[in-house]
Amino acid sequence: MTLTNATVRRKKGHSPDIADPLAARPALLLAWYDRHRRVLPWRPPAGQRPDPYAVWLSEIMLQQTGVKTVGPYFEKFLARWPDVAALGRASLDDVLRMWAGLGYYSRARNLHACAVSVLRDHGGVFPDTEEGLRSLPGIGPYTAAAVAAIAFDRRTMPVDGNIERVVSRLFTVEEPLPQAKPVIQQLAATLLGTSRAGDEKSRAGDSAQALMDLGATICTPKKPACSLCPLFEGCAACLRGDQESFPRKAPKKAGELRRGAAFVVTRGDKLLVRSRPEKGLLGGMTEVPGSDWRAAQEDKAALKQAPQLGDVTHWHRKVGVVTHVFTHFPLELVVYTAHVPARARAPKGMRWVPIATLEDEALPNVMRKVIAHGIGV
Ligand code: ADE
Repeated sequence: MTLTNATVRRKKGHSPDIADPLAARPALLLAWYDRHRRVLPWRPPAGQRPDPYAVWLSEIMLQQTGVKTVGPYFEKFLARWPDVAALGRASLDDVLRMWAGLGYYSRARNLHACAVSVLRDHGGVFPDTEEGLRSLPGIGPYTAAAVAAIAFDRRTMPVDGNIERVVSRLFTVEEPLPQAKPVIQQLAATLLGTSRAGDEKSRAGDSAQALMDLGATICTPKKPACSLCPLFEGCAACLRGDQESFPRKAPKKAGELRRGAAFVVTRGDKLLVRSRPEKGLLGGMTEVPGSDWRAAQEDKAALKQAPQLGDVTHWHRKVGVVTHVFTHFPLELVVYTAHVPARARAPKGMRWVPIATLEDEALPNVMRKVIAHGIGV
């Protein structure tokens, strides 16, 4: 629900208990968090110290993926590799397999590289400063701040999309994203709180997670529930009534559509697959053979890149296309199928895998779609 300006002003006039709503924000935010914090698999009960390994693992998974999707993956990883040493001793293949379906696979490679580095270079203990954390693979400024704040209560504010929205509304930041990031970062840091015990102990981690939760549950992109917001009193956008128009955004340039072909070849109950190159998009993941993916690719040119299988004289083109949207471009794949006899050998660099065990392969979502389209599994 959104409130009108008139409603906001009326309410402001009836708040004699809070002399300066702006100065009170960090405390109001923490008091709200103490009552309304979301229960999430990586959060220990209130007052308990979080495990830096669990915080780091969750933050890497949450980098480009939502809380709901991450939950089961986080639990699976933690059950299989309960600490950073266990993960550091795991094989990259096992980690990639466990990651399959989460997307953005460079995160899984960096996750593994980071665990190896913590084990080898830091005695299995995560550095407890932003700077130390940033020296590790896969940990950029945001993740370093998130882990430093949440795991070690360092006074720093990680700013994710939810926090950008809350802060840009509170302060009516007119500059569009991404240029507004530095100013939003500064303003967000004014919301860091301390404990009530008078010991000024940092509650940076709780302040950050409070803003994340506020953004996810109340200060939502559409129809924010402003009447339930603990920071309602001093929210500049809410006062003006244009809160949904924040954060301001520069118009986005869409990536150009790329096209290609994918070849779903079966030999009895087996499927022909290969591994993608280690570097680059979906690095090291499993895929069915395919053409390159390029803008304005003609179907004929894509079909010419079919794998050389002497036994295949005819490719069956499936009706329709598989579409997938990567961060930087949308993709459209034409799917061809063929069956080969039992004796057929896999071309160089490819292998046959039983269709029944495809779940064990590190198959990215786009390939799951292709296989489903090709053979309906
Ligand atoms: N998104 C990124 N980090 C998060 C966290 N610690 N809690 C909830 N959502 C998040």
